[in-house]
Amino acid sequence: MCGIIGFTGSREAAPILVDGLKRLEYRGYDSAGLITGTGSSLHLRRRAGRLVELEKLLATQPAAGTYGISHTRWATHGGATDANAHPHLSADSTIAVVHNGVIENYLQLKKQLQADGVQFRSETDTEVLAHLIAHYYQGDLLLAVRKTVELVKGTYGLAVVCKHEPGVLVGARLGSPLVIGLGDDGNYLASDASALAGYADKVVYLNDRQICQLDAESWVIRNQDMDTVDATAHDIQHYLGDYDAGKGDYPHFMLKEIYEQPEALANAMRGRLDDADATAHFGGLNLTAQQLRATDRVIMTACGTSYHAGLVGEYLFEELARMPVEVEYASEFRYRNPPIDRSTVILAITQSGETADTLAAMREAKRMGHTSLAICNAVGSSIAREACGGVYLHAGPEIGVASTKAFTSQCAVLTMLALYFGRTRHLSAPQGQKVIDELRALPDVIRQTLRCHDRVKDIARKYADMRNCLYLGRQYLYPAALEGALKLKEISYVHAEGYAAAEMKHGPIALVDADTPSVFLVPRGQVFDKVMSNMQEIKARGGPVIAVCSPNDAEVAHIADDLIPVPDVPEYLQPIVCSIPLQLLAYEIALLKGCDVDKPRNLAKSVTVE
Ligand code: F6R
Repeated sequence: MCGIIGFTGSREAAPILVDGLKRLEYRGYDSAGLITGTGSSLHLRRRAGRLVELEKLLATQPAAGTYGISHTRWATHGGATDANAHPHLSADSTIAVVHNGVIENYLQLKKQLQADGVQFRSETDTEVLAHLIAHYYQGDLLLAVRKTVELVKGTYGLAVVCKHEPGVLVGARLGSPLVIGLGDDGNYLASDASALAGYADKVVYLNDRQICQLDAESWVIRNQDMDTVDATAHDIQHYLGDYDAGKGDYPHFMLKEIYEQPEALANAMRGRLDDADATAHFGGLNLTAQQLRATDRVIMTACGTSYHAGLVGEYLFEELARMPVEVEYASEFRYRNPPIDRSTVILAITQSGETADTLAAMREAKRMGHTSLAICNAVGSSIAREACGGVYLHAGPEIGVASTKAFTSQCAVLTMLALYFGRTRHLSAPQGQKVIDELRALPDVIRQTLRCHDRVKDIARKYADMRNCLYLGRQYLYPAALEGALKLKEISYVHAEGYAAAEMKHGPIALVDADTPSVFLVPRGQVFDKVMSNMQEIKARGGPVIAVCSPNDAEVAHIADDLIPVPDVPEYLQPIVCSIPLQLLAYEIALLKGCDVDKPRNLAKSVTVE
């Protein structure tokens, strides 16, 4: 949510900043801005709207200079206007600030500043920071930033420049990620290492409450007491992996990421399936055999799509490991005070590793002394670094705001985790080996499943004008129904509800009419007949039915209006397989409606505010 990039070095800063913002734009796209410096002159350029508006401005009013900071915004305080776009300046225009996060006590700080005669030029919470830093500035920007952040309640990732210190960038972090990038032509500050690919060779991660200063040749990180902190520079390639961070030949990141799923699943499993012991292994789980045996309950906590993966995980752990699992929205878990005994492990599930609520939930669990693990995609993210142990997805960067490959990879990792726990309990070696074989076949199964795309396109054309849509499934496919509905609503703005199919009768069936299609997830399995009865109930009320079903299923074909056959797999893998047509359906409907698939309105990737 919001992106920051700063540069100081021997090259012109503006093109580097704009290129970095392009890579970060999926994190927020209400407005964008930058400030560069030539000697002690600062050049501010900012515009409401997409980054392209800033680029147009720069074409007529270039911003010269070899250092600068920039920002792409997801509005929290104040609408998407030029005046609210970052950077924000102090009243005397000596200090410029870009900020990710929320200053919770900004109103109180603003009132104090106004009482001292400071005139505000925006509605943002960030502007108080610029004025406060200017207030404390006495020739040392780093010190002024440190004094300012002491007053602040809330979260921040900050980048600051001062016209009296040309070439110097100061950064600070609390709850919003910030990294230093080290390159041949200079040094960088960014909210996300992925913005630095191709520019920096090494990255250094800041921890909460640390501040940093960099110029073209040097960098330093300090703690609150201004002591120098030892920090390690990591090879950036290690964090970004081998995935192509561009769109390639695809029109949208979302489509590219949908089609990357066979490879992402193979990567999630690579080196982790162990035929000798018929189990799975994870390098970073950091659980001793005793801890593993002593664990008799798991609480999974996550948000959005990752929460849906957690719900799939609940079924998986019950079936494969016979372990009780609770799945809780991280935003709820962090403020609850549930009784948790020592044998419970907390498992945070997150693509970005930066979701504010998930991070806070995990920290709360850690504070209470519980073993807190994470399933995470973004290497080096806050959650990945703070968890006691965990499993990376290795799905590569997910840029499309709607999560696709992360979801299916999370389900695959949860399957392997359930296998791992199961094999320390009742699951026999032959049963474990069967799971391994079925998992190994999955990437190819997904390749076959993707062949449904043309069929899905036809169905999308037929239903593109719908205003409401229901997604129905049972057992493993109930969370897949929730996820299908989320995909449709977030990128096509069509109202969609996911339900456990049998729950329909308890209220939502009142919504059914000839203009409200129901997408049934009904491949062959234990509850097939039950779901068929639910389908009949919808048909009896005139509701159109789209069925995601087993190949050549005459029984389903007899009732449903439209069929999307998918390959047969064991039930515990059905959420992964059935999600593919649902992702494609949401994508195609969004395209037909002219929606911006990769940057849906009001949303942003990685929700780093509460
Ligand atoms: C929906 C989507 C979101 C995220 C949620 C959690 O397509 O992407 O619902 O799943 O914001 O994000 P992570 O997984 O990064 O913690």
